[in-house]
This record gives sequence, C-alpha cells and structure tokens, in this order.
Amino acid sequence: MLDFHTAGESHGKGIIVVVNGLPAGLPIDFDMIAGEMTRRRNKAGSGPRMSMEGDEVEILAGIRWAKTLGSPIAGLIRNRDYANWQEVMNPQGKPPSTYEPVTVPRPGHADLAGAVKYRYDDLRNVIERASARETAGRCFAGTLARNFLAPLHIEIGGWVESIGEVKAGSGENFHEKSRRARRSPVATYDAEAETKMLEALEHAGRDGDTLGGTFVVVAFGVMPGLGTHVKWDERLDTRIAGALMGIPAIKGVEVGDGFANSRKRGSEVHDEIIRSSSPSFPFTRRTNRCGGIEGGVSNGETVWARCAMKPIPTLLKGLQSVDLKNGEEKQARYERSDTCAVARALVVAEAMLAWEIARACRVKFSGDSMEEVLDRFKEYRSYLSNYRML
Ligand SMILES: Cc1cc2nc3c(=O)[nH]c(=O)nc-3n(C[C@H](O)[C@H](O)[C@H](O)COP(=O)(O)O)c2cc1C
Repeated sequence: MLDFHTAGESHGKGIIVVVNGLPAGLPIDFDMIAGEMTRRRNKAGSGPRMSMEGDEVEILAGIRWAKTLGSPIAGLIRNRDYANWQEVMNPQGKPPSTYEPVTVPRPGHADLAGAVKYRYDDLRNVIERASARETAGRCFAGTLARNFLAPLHIEIGGWVESIGEVKAGSGENFHEKSRRARRSPVATYDAEAETKMLEALEHAGRDGDTLGGTFVVVAFGVMPGLGTHVKWDERLDTRIAGALMGIPAIKGVEVGDGFANSRKRGSEVHDEIIRSSSPSFPFTRRTNRCGGIEGGVSNGETVWARCAMKPIPTLLKGLQSVDLKNGEEKQARYERSDTCAVARALVVAEAMLAWEIARACRVKFSGDSMEEVLDRFKEYRSYLSNYRML
C-alpha cells in the first residue's frame, strides 16, 4: 500500500518526507520534481517569505540512478532560513535568555486549539508544525505519484476559478484550461479574469487584508475501476475529498458539480451512458457532472473536484485576540505572510489528487516491480477495451 509521512517544523532544519510502497524500477524525473516544488512557491499573492524558501529536495534514500529501488524513499527539503532560527528551534538545550514565548493566538490558525490540546506554554510549538510549509512535503510525495502515473497514461492538472469576488468565465475544455493555467501567475485560464484577480490581490494587500478563492483539480486518463463501492473508507471519493480537505485552509470540497447538482433535478444531473468508438473502453458519457466517480468507483471519465479556500488568516492589520498569559485583550501578532495562497494551494491539491489516484492504482495494479505493475495494467487495458458482460 502506498503511504507517506512528513516530519518537520516551519523554521526547523527542514521537512522530511518518507514515501512507502512505490514499486522498484520506476524512472524518476528530477526536473518534474524541481518544477512542481517551484510552482508551489512562485505565484502572485506570495510575500517575501517565499524567496527565502529554497524548495530543493535532497533524496536521502530509495532512488538510485534515477530509478526507485522499491525501498522507502526519503527526501529532505532544507529550510534555508534555519541559520536565523537555530537557537529558537534547537532540538537540544534551553530557550535563549532573550526568548519570549508567543502567547497571543491568531484567529483562524491552530494556535489556541493546539496549545490547549497539547498543554503548551508557547504558541510557537503549534505555529511551527501547523504552518503550510509542511505542504512542500506533500508536493514532493505527489510528484513521485505523478511519476508513477505517467506510464499508466494518467495526467494531473488544475486551474483557479475564483479569487475573492473575481470569477473566471466559463468555456474552454478541461485540457485547455489546465494548459493555460500553468502559464498564469494566478493559475487561471481566463486572461481577463487574471487581470482583475491581480488587481484584487493588490487592493487587498494594500489594505493589509487577504483573499481566498476556489480551484478545480483534474485527473485525465483515469481508467474505470479505481476505488470501490464495497468499503466506505476505500471509496475513491472518500479518499480524494479527505486528501483535499486536509490541505490547510481548504474548507470546502465537492466532487464534480456536487453543490450545484443538489439544486437541480435528477434528469439534469446524472451523466447518461452512451456507446463509444474509443478503443480503450466501449462506453462514455454525454456529460461529466459527477466528477468521474460513481458509487465510489472511477467510471472512466475525467476525475475532477473543486475546492474552496478561506482567506489567509494572518492579517497585517491583526484581528482581536487575548493574551493567554494574563487575559489581556490584544491584537493578534503578524508573522510574515501572503495576501493569497489560492494558486499555491492548487499545486498542493494537484499533488494530493495525484497521490490518491496513484494509491488507488497501486491497489488495482500491485507488484514489486514496475514490470509487474505494467503487466497488470496492460492486461486490464485489454479487458476494458474488449469489455462485454460475461
Ligand atoms: C500553500 C499554502 C500557503 C499558505 N500560506 C499562508 C500564509 O502565508 N499565512 C497564513 O496565515 N496562512 C497560510 N495558509 C493557511 C494556513 O496554513 C491555515 O489557514 C492555518 O494553518 C489554519 O488551518 P485551517 O485553515 O485548515 O483551519 C496557507 C495555506 C496553504 C495551503
């Protein structure tokens, strides 16, 4: 089974990622890893902190001569700012004499709830691990997943649909939207909306405020039969929704047009089945409003989901809070922060979609080596292309 763990604090030495369950002999594209790590940090709305974070992944184990060994893969993403935090984040010793613990929790962050839960006397202990810096690790794991999906002809994409009140127009097919979004600083496909989104970001930034938004992630080329209807926690939609919702600041997830569908009649929603002349599977759909998943199983159409991200909770102008030390009313402190992270969250969400699709493929196409995986994949492809009920 494919799984991964991350360890690391935002201003600690770095983020460590350990990935288990990829087969041996999978070629790894290091340019793709570098590209995705860069995409995660270089978008409009990012503050100066971004230029400090060199998201280079150092491979510590599990890959030799650009191919997986089948052993656990370990990657380290060093924090280049660690030198400035060495004393504060030192795993050994004592706090420096001048150190002042953080005691005013920021609304919208894990600060208060985390401190209460773990009985901390310094909110820094929460801030460090709850920070979205950890998503660099998810991005690395997700890019390994993309490498695994490539020989299975599955590709991941996505685009931003809205930032604040500015919405991209409809039109364009999924492939085109995804292709255009890659070139946009706000990761959208609509040039007119892009200009307005950039303006909205500038206005919000000038006011010391922040913005949220929505985006769509897609998996192209997913074969029918990933996930299952027989076990609630292995449904493909269960897994995808959980993985997307687990991204910091993502507060809504819908598979396909989930929320809009709930306001329509069944006849306007469900995707009718028609015969297809495609050599890969003899059926297709007129529409794909369900997001390519029915009963928790992929149905052969593009898998897609939409996420809503809340505005970043750290505000330059500081929200009302209380000092936990003495109960005094105070303004929440400002830690270097972005105006908007929707385009960056999209990159993390694509990584997590890649991860869940790869995980489901690993269940379907088991094996210790890539040869075994591809044998099973080819056998299944031939079964699908000649599909006829027994
Ligand atoms: C890629 C990414 C970057 C983020 N950057 C920031 C940031 O600069 N400042 C901030 O306050 N929150 C940022 N967030 C959101 C917070 O991490 C998140 O809102 C917070 O940890 C509380 O978790 P919750 O919103 O899931 O409840 C970011 C989230 C993501 C996915």
